[in-house]
Amino acid sequence: MSILGKPINRTDGWAKVSGAARYSAEHTLPGMAHAVLVTSTIPRGRVLRIDAGSAEQVPGLLLVMTHENAPRLPDETKSGKVQPPIGRVLSLLQDDQVHYNNQPIGVVVADTLEHAREAAARLSVEYETAPAVLDFDEAKEHTHPPDKVLGEPADSARGNLQAGLLAGSARLDEVYTTPYETHNPIEPHATVAAWAGAHLTLYDSTQYIKGVQRIVAQTLGIEPEQVTVLCPFTGGGFGCKGSVWSHVVLAAMAAQQAGRPVKLVLDRNQMFGPVGTRPITEQRMKLAAMSDGRLTASSHDVLAYTSMIEDWIEPSALVTRMLYASPCQATTHRLARMNLGTPTFMRAPGEATGTFALEAALDELACQLGIDPVELRLRNYAERDPEKDVPFSSKSLRQCYEMGAERFGWSRRNPQPRSMRDGDKLVGYGMATATYPTRRSPAGASAAIDEEGHVRARSATQDLGTGTYTVMTQVAADALGVPVAQVRFELGDSRMPEAPVSGGSTTVASVSSAVHAAATALRMKLIWIASADARSPLHGAIPDQVGVEDGWLYLKSDPARRERMSSIVKRHGKGPVEVTADAAPGHEKEHYSMHAFGAVFVEVWVDEALGEIRVPRVTGVYGVGRLLNQKTGYSQLMGGIVWGMGMALFEETVYDKRNGRAVNGNLAEYHVPVNADVGRIDVLVVDEDEPHANPLGAKGIGEIGITGVAAAIANAVHHATGKRIRHLPITLDKLL
Ligand code: MOS
Repeated sequence: MSILGKPINRTDGWAKVSGAARYSAEHTLPGMAHAVLVTSTIPRGRVLRIDAGSAEQVPGLLLVMTHENAPRLPDETKSGKVQPPIGRVLSLLQDDQVHYNNQPIGVVVADTLEHAREAAARLSVEYETAPAVLDFDEAKEHTHPPDKVLGEPADSARGNLQAGLLAGSARLDEVYTTPYETHNPIEPHATVAAWAGAHLTLYDSTQYIKGVQRIVAQTLGIEPEQVTVLCPFTGGGFGCKGSVWSHVVLAAMAAQQAGRPVKLVLDRNQMFGPVGTRPITEQRMKLAAMSDGRLTASSHDVLAYTSMIEDWIEPSALVTRMLYASPCQATTHRLARMNLGTPTFMRAPGEATGTFALEAALDELACQLGIDPVELRLRNYAERDPEKDVPFSSKSLRQCYEMGAERFGWSRRNPQPRSMRDGDKLVGYGMATATYPTRRSPAGASAAIDEEGHVRARSATQDLGTGTYTVMTQVAADALGVPVAQVRFELGDSRMPEAPVSGGSTTVASVSSAVHAAATALRMKLIWIASADARSPLHGAIPDQVGVEDGWLYLKSDPARRERMSSIVKRHGKGPVEVTADAAPGHEKEHYSMHAFGAVFVEVWVDEALGEIRVPRVTGVYGVGRLLNQKTGYSQLMGGIVWGMGMALFEETVYDKRNGRAVNGNLAEYHVPVNADVGRIDVLVVDEDEPHANPLGAKGIGEIGITGVAAAIANAVHHATGKRIRHLPITLDKLL
């Protein structure tokens, strides 16, 4: 009966495929000018002079904003450092310093985009250069610990690591690396900024409209109420749009200085530097186990780069702390400073990179011990969170292994590496565990019903292409008891009830709780209105006695006594009936460890002569609580798996060690999987009851899909070829 979980089509599907959905850069305002971001071409030093020179002859030029003439920002936010870690250290033209190549150093504004580009190209910038740290091997000679790792201590220890390592009969000590990677959503960052007196309106492509509102206000020294942020559609984010970066504030500053609305769109190359990256990581894993496979000790030491201006750590070892029942363990996170842009959250930050090291290391241990990789994981299955010593709120990982192995045909695997062939192709099977934390933040929502029975629910959340519009429509329809066709869910406007960042796989858990609460409260309000009205068939009823179906309220004991919600609203005569509600997590986090789990199985074919790797099929089985829409949910998981293939085989941002510029800063040379690279992806979700995480029992699914995939592929490559590749991406040169 319930609409929850049904694979309904995207409610915004038509708007998207017909072009009616307007993205940030598609907004055009009267008198709007076009801005181009000017970025540095050196990795370190200072800007001596920006000579407009012949740029001034470009017709339509309105403004060249540099550190010499940019509006001065309030002192306390001079560096733009507000609210870390969501607020970032920005480059807002308050000084002449250059800390990385491609750093914003100016904004050119003209009447057309062509004029702005031409003028920007004609600027001549004089620098004083200074020696820069551009080689990770050099940078890592000086490391420092971050303050915190996503709110957790940078280091952890349980048991006696040395004793545990010695107690094992099998041991492993290896280093795994993951490269710099760049998000590359199809829609680049874009901001349209317009001032009306002291009020600023921003159309901004973001994962966090309320964050943009607060951080931009704070940085400019105005009140949040003076800023409205609009973002009805986000064309992909993956973490890079979870923070407010320099260009957003610069667009507002340029609009103020030019006295006109300004549109600023980053070009593709500018996506490689000023708006975050996944940092390079070097991860040392030590494992020790008894001959029966039980771990006696594990350690995970993570080293990642950060920029010269801010500490941001890839939290790769957090997953190792909770995933297996290893009695003795130590983990560390360390940072090495480089003259590159600041790294940031990128899909499954920590788990994507951490599961590569951990799950590849376990595969090596399984080989050493002669134990099946699935069996090794079962022998170390954590029934409770081994670090926090609390139960899991729910965990179906055992079912995921079993169902995945069955579905994939794991039993057909000959454990001997290089033993399976198909013609001239080496065939390999590999597997790994997937996992991602289940988090939740406070959120609010409103719900209203009018005399026609049309329902409108709202929350200041975002849809990154993930299905927020669709799923929240289902949640509201279900809680109120009306058909989905009657419900319209609206988002992307900072004047709506507060919602958190769409990051950390939290949107469904947080916002669905609020929408559910608002729609439930609206139902209650309708019941009380009817109950208090002598003309209603439900006169005198109390909520417990009233059922709801298809837009009707009825008396459970006498279903003939019923009334349409719309007629209750009409007779009430006060226009639409509206409620707002807030929903916040309680203390469940103190009592339970909350995570989604899964198991990934892959088959690879390796061309023996050429080293070319194909991935003909992937099976991913997940325990994610209650799935609210089978279609959008499966798409999310599938998309994560595809990205995991990119991580395993293709993706790497290559910085020139001479100047710190990304040499493949474009979509032609930064390789991501295309359809021809992707074989059959089989996604399954196990029935899982999640009673603690949130009212609907839904775990986030935005990020778990990428986790484990790179390790499963690396493990399959080893099974196919006998070659252990510990450094991503596994390009063919590494196999020859
Ligand atoms: Mo996700 S990397 O937390 O946007």
